[in-house]
Amino acid sequence: MAKLCVNIDHVATVRQARMDVVPDPVEAAIMAEKAGADGITAHLREDRRHINDKDVERLKAAVKRKFNLEMSLSAGIVSKALSIVPDEATIVPEKRQELTTEGGLDVIVNFKKLKTVISRLKAKNIDVSLFIEADPKQIKASREAGADLIEIHTGRYANAKTAEIMDKEFIKIKDGAVYARSLGLKVNAGHGLTYGNAGKIAGIKEIEDLNIGHNIIARAVIVGMDKAVKEMIKAVK
Ligand code: PXP
Repeated sequence: MAKLCVNIDHVATVRQARMDVVPDPVEAAIMAEKAGADGITAHLREDRRHINDKDVERLKAAVKRKFNLEMSLSAGIVSKALSIVPDEATIVPEKRQELTTEGGLDVIVNFKKLKTVISRLKAKNIDVSLFIEADPKQIKASREAGADLIEIHTGRYANAKTAEIMDKEFIKIKDGAVYARSLGLKVNAGHGLTYGNAGKIAGIKEIEDLNIGHNIIARAVIVGMDKAVKEMIKAVK
């Protein structure tokens, strides 16, 4: 069964709305793990718009299962990741003006830089994942760059306007997952997943972890973290 890693960025988004100290994303991470989450994901963005350096240091100490740090290729973020040593590092593309990560990483264009950063992270025993579209060329390049895993971007599937588009996007994700496994890559998936659409992705047997954030935190505001995480685990099952 696919595992659930809860992305707690948006707990920090609410905190930063008032530049306050509450709500605390680390407290939320502890609660998510207690509710049964298999891991915690956080994105240390270059502009520090939600998660900050202190948060990742505290998450590293507090998370008992898997701590997955989402990060860009910028030099400052890479050296932070090397000093934190998360269990997993997911390299994502990052644009300053975007509301959230838009699209997957172009592994072919960034190949040389990625290869260097991946080997530096792996030298610290960090498992390295690349957040990419389910495109065979990107998957093959991820393997060649030395990644351990890929995270397939599920945004197009999640945001599909018709059932037909959704089915097409689902097939791309499934085929991509099968191809990646055949190359020896582990496969995660995430972005835009909800209580309604995560179950189908979790049914792809090649997929190990689902990284889900916004929909869980939105639900947690209404029903509390414990119930929100338990409901998502049920949806994934
Ligand atoms: N995976 C990656 C690589 C992401 O950048 C994000 C958003 O931070 C997620 C998963 C979670 O997406 P969502 O908040 O839409 O569930």
